Amino acid sequence: MSDTTVKATAAASGASATERFLTDKTGKADKTGKTGAPAKDVDTVRVDTLATAVITAVHDVIRRHQVTYDEYNALKSWLIAVGQDGEWPLFLDVWVEHVVEEVAGESREGTKGTIEGPYYAPDAPALPSVATLPMRDGEAGTPLLFQGRVTGAEGAPLPGAVLEMWQADDDGLYAQFAPGIPEWNLRGRVVSDDDGRFAVTTIQPAPYQIPTDGSCGRLIAAAGWHAWRPAHLHLKVSAPGHQTLTTQLYFKDGAYIETDVASAVKPELVLDPQPAGTGGNEVTYDFVLAPAAL
Ligand code: DHB
Ligand code: FE
Repeated sequence: MSDTTVKATAAASGASATERFLTDKTGKADKTGKTGAPAKDVDTVRVDTLATAVITAVHDVIRRHQVTYDEYNALKSWLIAVGQDGEWPLFLDVWVEHVVEEVAGESREGTKGTIEGPYYAPDAPALPSVATLPMRDGEAGTPLLFQGRVTGAEGAPLPGAVLEMWQADDDGLYAQFAPGIPEWNLRGRVVSDDDGRFAVTTIQPAPYQIPTDGSCGRLIAAAGWHAWRPAHLHLKVSAPGHQTLTTQLYFKDGAYIETDVASAVKPELVLDPQPAGTGGNEVTYDFVLAPAAL
């Protein structure tokens, strides 16, 4: 892929991720651009506690590392640019969300969760238990048969469980967030059969590079880090009476599996697909959903 393609895509994905978050998660933006989930919806005591803790942590860093005015001003310009580039969803999902998920999932039974990231889209096409994700004719990438079963914590199968799947293509690009890809490409909502089983044909995604031409990319370059996430399948698995599981599955020995920029890999979430004899690979992964909180 050419450099220009990647750059056009990076700018577009930041803007789309911001727009998507504002409409899906906090209610539609009004004419003034104001959106939902304002601080007043969160308990005052809690806001005081958390805001004070964050500000104090910043003060500690400044003292401990003897931060200079030049550094303070560099930070100030960078924070302004993150907003202008529409990269707050990317920044937060890469460097913050994994700890929020860790806390949220600490005492939940069942399959491990991990971060959602910025590229979920609700209402993907509904598909039967044996299905192929929507894809282009001759979609590039190694074919993958991904199958398994959804059960509750006690092992009872969950028929009619919904597996929402989304993933990058063989260029590491997500439909709806990169230009030129059909709207629901490699996105679908698979429903498990009477025995909780599913079998989905897709392609193995490529590693994903977070946009390098915006402010997150500038931070990565300035700090000498890399911008990659290992290849992954995203899933939200839900069933009545159970907690919805948001997770990702990775590929054994895949590039960046040990150094995910978003720190979202867990050993329990690594697949080891085997050659299927059809030119592609196949893998089985079973999901266990925790009971809904009382
Ligand atoms: C980001 C992208 C992803 O595909 C993901 O799973 C997590 C984070 C990001 O660009 O922030
Ligand atoms: Fe992703």
